[in-house]
Amino acid sequence: MGSSFWTVCLILASLVSSSFCALPRKPVDVPFGRNYYPTWAFDHIKYFNGGSEIQLHLDKSTGTGFQSKGSYLFGHFSMNIKMVPGDSAGTVTAFYLSSQNAEHDEIDFEFLGNRTGQPYILQTNVFTGGQGNKEQRIFLWFDPTKEFHRYSILWNMYQIVFYVDDVPIRVFKNSKDLGVKFPFDQPMKIYNSLWNADDWATRGGLEKTDWSKAPFIAGYKSFHIDGCEASVNAKFCATQGKRWWDQVEFRDLDAAQWRRLKWVREKFTIYNYCNDRKRLPQIPPECKRDRDI
Ligand SMILES: *[C@@H]1O[C@H](CO)[C@@H](O)[C@H](O)[C@H]1NC(C)=O
Repeated sequence: MGSSFWTVCLILASLVSSSFCALPRKPVDVPFGRNYYPTWAFDHIKYFNGGSEIQLHLDKSTGTGFQSKGSYLFGHFSMNIKMVPGDSAGTVTAFYLSSQNAEHDEIDFEFLGNRTGQPYILQTNVFTGGQGNKEQRIFLWFDPTKEFHRYSILWNMYQIVFYVDDVPIRVFKNSKDLGVKFPFDQPMKIYNSLWNADDWATRGGLEKTDWSKAPFIAGYKSFHIDGCEASVNAKFCATQGKRWWDQVEFRDLDAAQWRRLKWVREKFTIYNYCNDRKRLPQIPPECKRDRDI
């Protein structure tokens, strides 16, 4: 969708209702070095086309990763990733936001690899005040190793939405009124990594990494960040309420987006902590905000 989409969308929004524009803005592509730097195992990151595309390599000696230069309080954070192809069992490709302090907040995408021809699992999780245990797991409706796909997180005062391309796969509403902590005052950095987790990743750890297939390679591009940059200790964001991701059309999903989320829940969801009465006998309060639970 190009700028004509936005023009039409803005006209409709002014005439009818703001919810016509509820799709996050498409990021512009910038080189890796503009917003990110390597975190560890620098020689396992490869750069192409002046850094407009990179690869992370995992082998028996080490995985690798990169992180954002800035810290952010609210915004829209996305990464275009092509997952490890072929036999990726035991590997985990992660894209997440984290505040990395004692009672940390975190918003996670984790892609669990699989044997050749077997499906990846996408696990998402949210940590608030150091507490996680909010896992959801889905299969994807495409093979994530064939092309780049956009994975993104919209985070504002009202909700956290996980998107795969333009499809919302999960929403975590601010349920402060129900006594649930919501990340709002701890800036987070963006992290990406590829590592070995064959003790749990694939079929619960039954399938081990086959090192004869190394190196395992994941591709990344589109390094734009749309967020309110803040110092690590900042408690609020200077542009709070003034940027596109703060606007009223991004404070809830619209009807079309709820329908797409429902489609993901019905067709692709493998696990949802909201429905796990064995592990969590009481329904977590925020789950009551899920429309069709
Ligand atoms: C891997 O494939 C198996 C068999 O199809 C499936 O049970 C499992 O959920 C898949 N994904 C992972 C990450 O284990």
